[in-house]
Formats: sequence, structure tokens, C-alpha cells
Amino acid sequence: MKILIVGASGFVGGHLIEIARARGHEVIGTQRSAQRNDLVHFDLVEQRLGETFDRGWFQSAVVIACAAIQQIDQCRQDPIASRRLNVEATERLLVDAAELGAQPVFISSSFVFSGTDASYRESAPRRPINAYGEQKAATEQFLEENLPNSLRVRFDKTVGDRPTEKHLFSEWYGWWHKRQPLRCIADQRFAPTLVDDAALGLLLACEQQLVGTYHIANPESFTRAELADLFLRHFGDPVPIICKTQAELGFLDLRPPCSVLDSSKLCAATEMKFTAMRETIERFRAAVEKHPL
Ligand SMILES: NC(=O)c1ccc[n+]([C@@H]2O[C@H](COP(=O)([O-])OP(=O)(O)OC[C@H]3O[C@@H](n4cnc5c(N)ncnc54)[C@H](OP(=O)(O)O)[C@@H]3O)[C@@H](O)[C@H]2O)c1
Repeated sequence: MKILIVGASGFVGGHLIEIARARGHEVIGTQRSAQRNDLVHFDLVEQRLGETFDRGWFQSAVVIACAAIQQIDQCRQDPIASRRLNVEATERLLVDAAELGAQPVFISSSFVFSGTDASYRESAPRRPINAYGEQKAATEQFLEENLPNSLRVRFDKTVGDRPTEKHLFSEWYGWWHKRQPLRCIADQRFAPTLVDDAALGLLLACEQQLVGTYHIANPESFTRAELADLFLRHFGDPVPIICKTQAELGFLDLRPPCSVLDSSKLCAATEMKFTAMRETIERFRAAVEKHPL
């Protein structure tokens, strides 16, 4: 399969390109401000696909929109710039992709939901409670109406097993290493998912030519404090876990109290299996032991 990953320099895009190449696909990855030798510069807001790449390449290809402003508070703080990228430029990219003969793929988020249910299926109504969720919901709706044969996937929080990357576990490890308490959002339940699993689930969906909306998230769910406790059990010499409300943490925008996604539709279609968080943390710890910070 030919795959263009727009935003391959990011956390999810970086793992997607690695796994897609390992699975033998012909992949082009883009970056905007990063400077990797294996990626092509492409600014989604300023540039168009057909003017930047060979138009003929897109026939029967897949274009995955991975580029976004995914920092929740930044979307509230700068709604115009974030909307320009997360909604307007992303919609234009995916329309361009379809017109060039490619399959458009959009990565959305569990934050399209309000977080009052215990777990969400694909058919649940979108009720975002923050600017980031509103932007993701707007793009989803546009795609449903204008590109119904596109693939839309929703992730919950992705985490990694590599200490050298920026994610929840490397942040917690940094605090633990400095003997600082782990600060967690109180009473927030989520489905932390190994980023490689999220990337593999998306690629399996592309390989099987799935269309429509699919959830790709670990079936395990935790409160932040439960996951922090599991994490600390792998490191010994524990530090305190301090739970604070969103107001106490000073967030600009709300986080849904529950962002758990039911991925049974994807698992039935692809036989996708997710990695348990215990195993992810064990791998993380093994990597830290091999290369201490
Ligand atoms: N990470 C999660 O837990 C999570 C959860 C749910 C959904 N998602 C969704 O998954 C997707 C990927 O997230 P991520 O965590 O990988 O984000 P990320 O690490 O912040 O990466 C963002 C990517 O977007 C690129 N980018 C930013 N502005 C751009 C522009 N104007 N033109 C072209 N590229 C631009 C960045 O390129 P440079 O760095 O080169 O500038 C980078 O490759 C996003 O749609 C996000 O909403 C992520």
C-alpha cells in the first residue's frame, strides 16, 4: 500500500511510519518544524497536496491526517489558529486526497464525548466539552457528510514504552527520578493505549479497507491514580501520588471525566489485540534500566 502520513514527526505519526515501513508499505512521511532526514517538509495550512507532491502517486494511496494541535489548553487559548489546522486545513487535505484518488483517513479523539458515560461506542452522540473536542467533532461531521467513505478513527490517550519520547510515563518517570510526587487529575477514567497498538490498529483498518468510524483503544481502563500506582509498583521506593481537581491544576479547558472507548468493532473486524498496561510499563522499566537517564 502507498501511504502518506501527514505529521509523521509527531508521537503517533512517528510510530505509524515505523510500523508501516516494517509491514512493507511504501510510505512518505511529512514534518513541518522537525528536521528528520527521512521526512518531507509539508505545512498543511500553507500547502496543498496536489501542488507539493506528484499527483499521480495518490491513485489508490492512503492519506493519514496525523498533524494537529492536540494540546487541550492551546486549542482554547488560540481557537483561531487551532481551528485553522485541526478543522479547516485538515478538511481541505482530506478532500484533496479524495480528489486525487486516495483514501482519506482522519485521527479523532475520545474527547468528542462529554465523558459522562462509562464507555463509548462509535454510535454514541458527540457532545464535546472543550475546544479541542469541538474541533475534532466538527471535522468528523464534515467527513461524514462530505466524504462518507473516509476512515475516521478515535484514540484515547496514547502512551509509550520508550523513555526517550515525550508521553505520560516518561513524565512520571522524570518526577519519580527527582523524588517528586506524581500529580494526577482526580476522578478521571481513561483507556491508556500503547502508541504502537494505536498505530497498528489504524494500519490494520487501512489494510482491510475499512470505512466509517472505529475506536482504537486499550480495553483496560484506569483512573489516573490507579495507573500511577501500577507505574510506581514497577519502580520501588515510591513517591506520593497527589490527586488534584482540574480547577486546582489550573487547566484552561475541561477534560471529560471519562474517555474510555469500546473498540470491539475494530477487534471484530481485524483481530486486533492490545498490550496490557502492566506489560507496557515493564517494557518501559526495562528500557530505563538499559539506558538510565
Ligand atoms: N497523542 C494522543 O494521545 C492522541 C490521542 C487522541 C488523538 N490523537 C490525535 O492523533 C494525532 C497525532 O497526535 P500526536 O500526539 O502524534 O501529536 P503531536 O506529537 O503533537 O504531533 C503533531 C504533528 O503535527 C505536525 N504539524 C503541526 N502543525 C502542522 C502544520 N501546520 N502542517 C503540517 N504538520 C503540522 C507536527 O509536525 P512538526 O512537529 O514537524 O512541526 C507533528 O508531526 C492528532 O490528530 C491528535 O489529535 C492523539
